[in-house]
Amino acid sequence: MRVFVTGGTGLIGSAVVAELLGNGHTVLALARSDASAQAAETAGADPLRGGLADLDTLRTGAAQTDGVIHLAFNHDFSSPAALSSAVAEESAALAALGEELVGSDRPFVTVSGTPHAPGRPSTEADPLPTDGPVAGRSRAVMGILSLAARGVRSTAVRLPRTVHNQGAGGFAGMLTDIARQTGVSGYPGDGTQRWPAVHALDAAILCRLALEQAQPGTSWHAVADEGDQVGDIAAVIGRRLGLPVKPVPPETYGPLGPIFATDQPSTSTHTRQTLGWDPKHPSLLEDLENIQP
Ligand SMILES: NC(=O)c1ccc[n+]([C@@H]2O[C@H](COP(=O)([O-])OP(=O)(O)OC[C@H]3O[C@@H](n4cnc5c(N)ncnc54)[C@H](OP(=O)(O)O)[C@@H]3O)[C@@H](O)[C@H]2O)c1
Repeated sequence: MRVFVTGGTGLIGSAVVAELLGNGHTVLALARSDASAQAAETAGADPLRGGLADLDTLRTGAAQTDGVIHLAFNHDFSSPAALSSAVAEESAALAALGEELVGSDRPFVTVSGTPHAPGRPSTEADPLPTDGPVAGRSRAVMGILSLAARGVRSTAVRLPRTVHNQGAGGFAGMLTDIARQTGVSGYPGDGTQRWPAVHALDAAILCRLALEQAQPGTSWHAVADEGDQVGDIAAVIGRRLGLPVKPVPPETYGPLGPIFATDQPSTSTHTRQTLGWDPKHPSLLEDLENIQP
């Protein structure tokens, strides 16, 4: 398949591009800068210059290919307004891509976070959250899944809180960045809350399997570690950076504070059984050992 990938130069997207190219597909990669276009080309993809706000470019990319994997997101969590602007940009981009694919029966892989199910690990059958700071992202993904009724083989890969590679990425990566800035490896709450995780190379395999096999309107969990306690994550980060490990107020994490403080384990039993996904790369706690002081 020729696949249009947005976010193909990111932590997950670069793994997805390599996974696609290694399995007989070709890639047209959205690239918003010369540097990103160069990175896409070096990886073996054909760059298509433009950003998420260039809706005509997105339509062109979708029209020229056999399927779409959307991963681009402007991760600006500096304020609620910045976050909502990034969510609005992505929602418009998703809608444009989806409309272009209507009636084509082509695959459209989107990503979201895993949902939170109070008192138990969430499953693929649980709905995405419709409140909180990233609810707009859930609504946009649900809109794309509903295109299953209009001839789009739309599917969602739900990513856990930390998708990591070489010790970087996701919520754990944000804990590391804040630890470097503040001199404390902090965690919100009592540190017993659990976050699920997956290695980016395993998440990339699931994105490819979903592209190739998923039925329209389906959701999948890219969860390898069901739940790592946040205190344990902060302890590895603190040891690797030589910093004290302490609880800090949830406000430290801006609009994401309430999400950081929540116990939110998740499972992937249905995904493993149905798509034959079998994550094998290092767990988060193993991968965090790659952090360099
Ligand atoms: N990593 C995680 O732990 C995690 C967990 C849950 C969900 N997710 C989701 O998975 C997706 C990929 O995450 P990631 O960790 O790979 O992100 P990332 O490393 O920050 O990469 C973001 C990608 O999106 C591109 N991008 C950002 N804003 C753009 C814009 N306005 N127009 C065009 N391209 C734009 C970036 O391009 P440049 O190279 O030009 O900057 C880059 O390719 C995102 O939706 C993210 O929210 C990630």
